[in-house]
This record gives sequence, C-alpha cells and structure tokens, in this order.
Amino acid sequence: MKALIIYDSVYGNTEKIARAVAEAITPSYEVKVVQAGEANPSELASTDLLIVGSPTHAGRPTPAIQDLLNKVPKLQGINIAAFDTRITTKLVRVFGYAAGRIAGNLKRKGGTLIVSPEGFFVTGNKGPLKEGELERAAGWAKGILESKK
Ligand SMILES: Cc1cc2nc3c(=O)[nH]c(=O)nc-3n(C[C@H](O)[C@H](O)[C@H](O)COP(=O)(O)O)c2cc1C
Repeated sequence: MKALIIYDSVYGNTEKIARAVAEAITPSYEVKVVQAGEANPSELASTDLLIVGSPTHAGRPTPAIQDLLNKVPKLQGINIAAFDTRITTKLVRVFGYAAGRIAGNLKRKGGTLIVSPEGFFVTGNKGPLKEGELERAAGWAKGILESKK
C-alpha cells in the first residue's frame, strides 16, 4: 500500500509533523513525503492514502497547498487525512484552521476521510512545536492504521 504525504512549511514545524506521521505509518505503508511546491497534482490520485498538512495562515492552508488542492484530480477510492499546525491564542480561533478546509476540499474531490482532521500546536509563529506534539502526531497517524482494520 502506498501513502503520499504532501506538506507545506515556512519554518519547518509542519515538515516535522509530516515526517513523524510518515514514520508512524511505515512500514504498513510505503510512504513518500513531498513539499507542496514540488508535488505533481496527478500523483495525488495514484496513491492508496493521501495525507495533506499545512501551517494555518489566516485560518487557511498556505497558497502552495491551496494551489495544489485546486489542481487535484478526482480522488475516488483514495483514503484521505488532513492536519495543520496552529498557534494557541484565542484571537486566531475566529478564523478557523487549515485542516478542516483541506479535508473538505479533498472530500469534495471524492476522497474518503478516514480520520478526523487534526491540528498540532506551535508556541509561536516560528515554533517550536509545543512539547509532546510529535508524539501526538504519531498517535494520530496510528489511528489511520487502525481505521484500516
Ligand atoms: C502569515 C501568517 C499567518 C498566520 N495565521 C495563523 C492563523 O490564522 N491561525 C493560527 O493558528 N496560526 C497562524 N499562524 C501561525 C502558523 O500556524 C505557524 O507559523 C505555523 O504553524 C508554523 O508552521 P511552519 O513552521 O511549518 O511554517 C500564522 C503564521 C503566519 C506566518
């Protein structure tokens, strides 16, 4: 089974989560991790599991992720999951977060959401990740494996 993890990351925190997720689902899946700007939209449809992760910018995924999502072909028969990174202040909650929007977009393309969209916390715009978030990401990813049983 193949998994493709597409991520974007300005300061490296979302990439760390993407790599923790990749590690957690290996070797159940043969995993490829690709930055959004380097992904070919057509390859998103030639995998068994597609996971997309983005930093939250003004409540949304980054332009690179949004651009890729806009070009994604049909995802019928493909399992999907989405995550974001975000900060904890109350002020930003009104904007919402990237993960739910990514999941909604992938579902509209026909993908099957197999785990709830999840957010992982950074302690400031540049990070670092809040303590324990890499472990929480691994746990979230294990939920992906369990949903397959
Ligand atoms: C331009 C900009 C807008 C942001 N907007 C939000 C936001 O709306 N909500 C939020 O929780 N975090 C926001 N953040 C904080 C990002 O979520 C944080 O920079 C990101 O999680 C770090 O991930 P990265 O290291 O992968 O870039 C914003 C950061 C930047 C730079």
